[in-house]
Amino acid sequence: MATHNLIRWLLDTRELWLDNFSSQVRSAKDLHKVKSSLKFTGADAKHQASFPLECLKPDEQQAIGRYYRAQDKKMSLGSYLLKYLVVARTCRVPWPEIQIVGGEHKKPCYRPRDASSPGVEFNISHQAGLVAVAAHPGTSIKVGVDIVCVNERNDLARIDENGFDSWVDMYEEMFSDRELNDIKYSVNGVRLEDGTEISGGQLGDLARSCSRYESVCVSLTSGEKKCFSSGVIVEAKLRRFYAFWSLKEAYIKMSGEALLADWLRDLEFRNVRTPKPKLAQEAASGNGFGETVRDVEVFFRGEVVSDVSMELQAFEEQYMIVTAISPTTPNGRGVFPEFEILDLEKDIYPLAAT
Ligand SMILES: CC(C)(COP(=O)(O)OP(=O)(O)OC[C@H]1O[C@@H](n2cnc3c(N)ncnc32)[C@H](O)[C@@H]1OP(=O)(O)O)[C@@H](O)C(=O)NCCC(=O)NCCS
Repeated sequence: MATHNLIRWLLDTRELWLDNFSSQVRSAKDLHKVKSSLKFTGADAKHQASFPLECLKPDEQQAIGRYYRAQDKKMSLGSYLLKYLVVARTCRVPWPEIQIVGGEHKKPCYRPRDASSPGVEFNISHQAGLVAVAAHPGTSIKVGVDIVCVNERNDLARIDENGFDSWVDMYEEMFSDRELNDIKYSVNGVRLEDGTEISGGQLGDLARSCSRYESVCVSLTSGEKKCFSSGVIVEAKLRRFYAFWSLKEAYIKMSGEALLADWLRDLEFRNVRTPKPKLAQEAASGNGFGETVRDVEVFFRGEVVSDVSMELQAFEEQYMIVTAISPTTPNGRGVFPEFEILDLEKDIYPLAAT
């Protein structure tokens, strides 16, 4: 198996382009008004979106302008910048010459002007302000990436209507029967407010809890009895649901078929463990990344898929990021480098300005 040169970058747009981003890109027609208002360094560079917009093609600027919410415009802009950056850095193509097009099933890809020039395979995901790219030089290795943010939708209110198991049933077209059962009735463990960790094994049948409003008790190995609300269990199961979701998304995005895939239920993830976020005191000094899980097993129509590696990583309290790469060795040994968190001014703007 060839050595892998996987690239993984993360751009956090939550604090970027804060100066009236919406009005700057209200419509494509308005763009010419904000052009050339750019200052390239210091606080302005972080806050003004006009410079990076100018570095894109008119149709790309228009596509960004069509998003209604500022958050979506910013993620779309971040997505374009990362696509360009991947091509500029790996294929050494000057920024203005880069052409990003919709490839098979509209998966965005880079098409070199000269077909004999080196290519690059990449995939983008954006969610709740974060934009991630996974990329690999050449076109023979496929990659997929997906970010989820567990508390972004109001799932708990829906779960409270008829219980967690009924809520999961809404997704029965996406998951196999085995996955649905696993999602509904298993949990890897919970962390209580006082910091006590209780494993799935210690929870026993309580892992089957589907309502958030029961008082439950567990006897710890120390002999201590802990009583708490079953909401802790349901919330851990919701996080695990999103781990399954993100694994499936990253895989279908790697394949390029995305929502056209009519084999979602044939693709099955087993041995899924939810990565833990860093504890608050550890997170304060780190880069936001928490636990990494690489031993998820992939099955297709009951057969093991051994040429794909999947990695699931916690980011901050609420995010998880899945990367999929194929072909590769099982468990991704030596395949996954750490995500690099990009700095707009240092890593992106100098290349964009060329
Ligand atoms: C197109 C799809 C990939 C979008 O996924 P998403 O989770 O909404 O959004 P993400 O942020 O992860 O991905 C968006 C990026 O996917 C990329 N993308 C688009 N089409 C793609 C395709 N066919 N294959 C791979 N990637 C694709 C694009 O780069 C896009 O970003 P951009 O428009 O800024 O370039 C598709 O899977 C989808 O709409 N999923 C909806 C959720 C769902 O039902 N999932 C079922 C799995 S359980």
